[in-house]
Amino acid sequence: MDILGIDIGGTGIKGAIVNTATGELKSDRYRELTPQPAKPDAVCDVVNDVATHFNWAGPVGCTFPAIVHHGVVFSAANVHKSWINTDCKGLLEKRLRGPVVVLNDADAAGVAEAKFGAGRGQDGLVIMLTLGTGIGSALLFHGELIPNAELGHMELRGKDAEWRVSDRVRQEKKLSWKKYAKRLNEYLGRLEFLFSPDLFIIGGGASKYHDKFLPRLKTRTRIVPAQLLNEAGIVGAALAAERAVQQGAALE
Ligand code: BGC
Repeated sequence: MDILGIDIGGTGIKGAIVNTATGELKSDRYRELTPQPAKPDAVCDVVNDVATHFNWAGPVGCTFPAIVHHGVVFSAANVHKSWINTDCKGLLEKRLRGPVVVLNDADAAGVAEAKFGAGRGQDGLVIMLTLGTGIGSALLFHGELIPNAELGHMELRGKDAEWRVSDRVRQEKKLSWKKYAKRLNEYLGRLEFLFSPDLFIIGGGASKYHDKFLPRLKTRTRIVPAQLLNEAGIVGAALAAERAVQQGAALE
């Protein structure tokens, strides 16, 4: 099935038509800048621009970088606070005049990696982490998503983990790879103790440099870089929308 996948990020909003059977993009990626301030109406306008660019009338899957429960946004760590309690799915469906599924950005990336990337065929528990501006997380058990895990907000040394281990913090604090790996080791060790996962997948901006820090990590759990990189959100969003279409449910 062909579905339009859209990835809403802090700096860019990008979309492409996805072949959900293969995970391949059937179009170029089209990107516009995220409006600043990134308030709901302004963001919905840009998402609509992206759909219009593709002349798209079918179902749409869309990521959002916060907790999204049944289409409603319930947090705003790295987005405008006015999103909290906003019915993102409802707003987008009104603007795009069609069915839309909205899910957390890291959840979408996890779904895509589980089906077409680094988590393909993996049984048991997979924890995907996106190390970027914040830390996104996805939990997948036997390939099935457990949504909105928010492990980036787990407390580490009295702070949200994303304030110690995100790629933004690495850059802002000019941490050496050795120091960054040390912080990451502590974080992954905690996650390992709490969840006993079968695989960690590391995505997000930092994963481009995985050869600099993955070899320094000491978890007993296997740990691999993400494979779909900046297409993961778009592909995962499209997969989520496909599933809702197949289930014939209201697209949640
Ligand atoms: C948010 C998550 C999001 C992650 C990556 C975190 O600050 O709480 O919902 O997945 O950033 O964008």
